[in-house]
Amino acid sequence: MVNFWTQLNKPFFCLAPMDDVTDIVFRDVVEKVSSPDVFFTEFVSVEGLSSKGRDRVIRRLDRNPESQKPLVAQIWGKDLDAYTKAAEDISKMGFSGIDINMGCPERGIVARGFCGGLIGNYDGVEKIIEATKRGANNLPISVKTRIGLNEVITEEWFSFLLEQNLDAITIHARTVREMSKVPARWDEFRKVVELRNKISPKTLIIGNGDILNFRQGIDIAEKTGVDGIMIGRGIFKDMFVFSNKEEEHTPKDMIDILLFHLDRYKRDDMKKPFNILKKFFKIYINGWDNASYLRAKLMETKSPEDVRKILNNIKDILY
Ligand SMILES: Cc1cc2nc3c(=O)[nH]c(=O)nc-3n(C[C@H](O)[C@H](O)[C@H](O)COP(=O)(O)O)c2cc1C
Repeated sequence: MVNFWTQLNKPFFCLAPMDDVTDIVFRDVVEKVSSPDVFFTEFVSVEGLSSKGRDRVIRRLDRNPESQKPLVAQIWGKDLDAYTKAAEDISKMGFSGIDINMGCPERGIVARGFCGGLIGNYDGVEKIIEATKRGANNLPISVKTRIGLNEVITEEWFSFLLEQNLDAITIHARTVREMSKVPARWDEFRKVVELRNKISPKTLIIGNGDILNFRQGIDIAEKTGVDGIMIGRGIFKDMFVFSNKEEEHTPKDMIDILLFHLDRYKRDDMKKPFNILKKFFKIYINGWDNASYLRAKLMETKSPEDVRKILNNIKDILY
């Protein structure tokens, strides 16, 4: 099996894993509109995959087999056997790689020593990576993490991670405690790249945090030496963040993308609640005269069909 990480042109771009955002439906929309080089799923609990609720949890791993882009399944948890079992499952499902979440700052999760709470737990992390590799059937393994728990420990933490023979490491350049409340420290990317050059030249380094578009990503990669750039919330401001073309997009274009999103939502039998779908409206219906009025109307709807009716009516006026 070819390790997809080794096939990417640098700097490559990734869409960040985002809970209730980067599911099968939204990934398809992004791939159609302006595709990154690599996609990640939402984070998926390994304990959940081994629980009675497995049937529901496993839907977070739904993937479109027609997608052309590498898709990495992101997992989180603590139980070592559950990591091995989850990796075995994922290796049979057609994913390109497995990513372990060591950065989520949600207080309850961190307090239990999961995700961001793993930072600095060297023994525990070594075992989690080993347990994942045991089940992964040679799928590449990566880690997405932050630069510390309560304080910045870039050198110590990444020196350790770089000794774990990982294919890629994503650095969200803030501590867990900082959540997203302070600007990302992009200078830390360069420090990790230098450590990587010394300790594990084959491990790819991906920079993440506050990067808003393709141009800025290229600039940061040039300045810091990271191999890849990961963008999360930037996609909420601009669906075309991964495009290197400067193009104007008309209200009609954006309505057509929302209509495509509705089509994909309809086709997907996982069906997240309609309220979650509504969160996406402001991405598409934004930045033109009367957009906020239209958005307010869409927020009052009770079903995707209602949304479709309004959009089809408004199209005549806009075209
Ligand atoms: C709504 C939302 C959900 C997120 N869910 C996840 C997740 O499931 N796994 C993960 O590693 N990070 C998650 N993150 C963090 C992002 O992947 C990313 O690290 C963070 O938003 C910083 O990048 P940005 O400034 O480009 O958004 C989430 C962020 C947001 C805003």
